Amino acid sequence: MTEPVFDGSFTEQEALPDAAIEAALAVMKTGRLHRYTVGGGGPSQTALLEREFAASIGQDYCLAVASGGYALQLAMRAWGVCQGEPVLTNAFTLSPVPGAIVAVGGTPILVETTIDLTIDFDDLEAKIAASGARLLLLSHMRGHIADMDTLRALLDRAGVALIEDCAHTMGASWNGRPSGTFGIAGCFSTQTYKHINSGEGGLIATPDADLMARATVLSGSYMLHDRHPAAPAPEAFGDAPLKCPNMSGRMDNLRAAILRPQLAALADNTARWNARYQTVSDRLRDVAGLRLTKRDRRETFVGSSIQFFLDDLTADECEAFVTLCGARGVELKWFGAPMAAGYTSTHHHWTYLPPQDLPRTDAILATLFDMRLPLTFSLDDCTLIASIMAECAARMAEPVLPRAGVA
Ligand SMILES: Cc1ncc(COP(=O)(O)O)c(C=O)c1O
Repeated sequence: MTEPVFDGSFTEQEALPDAAIEAALAVMKTGRLHRYTVGGGGPSQTALLEREFAASIGQDYCLAVASGGYALQLAMRAWGVCQGEPVLTNAFTLSPVPGAIVAVGGTPILVETTIDLTIDFDDLEAKIAASGARLLLLSHMRGHIADMDTLRALLDRAGVALIEDCAHTMGASWNGRPSGTFGIAGCFSTQTYKHINSGEGGLIATPDADLMARATVLSGSYMLHDRHPAAPAPEAFGDAPLKCPNMSGRMDNLRAAILRPQLAALADNTARWNARYQTVSDRLRDVAGLRLTKRDRRETFVGSSIQFFLDDLTADECEAFVTLCGARGVELKWFGAPMAAGYTSTHHHWTYLPPQDLPRTDAILATLFDMRLPLTFSLDDCTLIASIMAECAARMAEPVLPRAGVA
């Protein structure tokens, strides 16, 4: 009997909703794509998106920019990272995060990871003391949110500021409070594989009027900061328009127009992602040798991807597992891979950083697998995918490694 194979695509996103397509056409028919070319004096699509996004997470101010990575850079620059300054961040994250720190002249200090894929508080405390860092850029990598109450207390005691990288937590919350509202700024991405899709794009949300004034000018507002209804009033900008350099990285009206209907649908789509996550995790939970991460009851997450461990496998066996699943159409990423591949890399591959000793993170990444759950998958697709993974995991547990068929 032939084994079932999944023939869908792990990288295919849903088409944009009709409302987004109509909004894009409307913008294109006017030709007013730049955020500051508005007709009838009215707020631009970009300004409306900023207002709606700020309201959606209960934050005071919001700025839309060119990408999530740019949002991280801009938030750090507006906060005041100095040349050569140490900036703490999770060792378990993706390359745009250390990249953003390096882009603003900082030196990333990588913090160890817990088995539930959140930042390790003991190591964080030790590294705050050792480095004298003033800022933590916390990456909620793959949507795993640390205990934010404990983290806030720790950072307050140490006098360390917090910027959140919410590329994977738009729509998520901790203890009822939206991700991205725990620190001086929250940064979001609207790149195609995130929770709302404009190809490229980013958002910064903050309660800090001065930071938002500087970020707005830095993003390239010229002298047009009065056209930012989600920024502080023009008088609050002080001398920022003259003091801050223009580091152009604005969002345009076309992208904002297609994001607004998606933002309105985020809660519904979160429920759809979580139904897919639940289907896969229910099937994988009882697979011998396979461990899912534990999720805290206080965390409300968006299940747009799933992570799991096969703790007993060697590196060769992990590779064989990825190949076995791949041969049956199930595309997995493995964080223990020696080579960076696709979007996946680890601190071992970021050779522009000073090398850092992270034994606990290395042990965790060695058997950590990661899989996307796009909304183009039906629940039946998810059942099939999880069954294939369960069967492949069972084969790995057979006494002899099933080399035949592992091309
Ligand atoms: C964890 C994380 N942070 C930040 C970013 C940066 O987002 P963007 O691709 O919009 O620059 C990404 C992008 O993949 C990411 O995965």
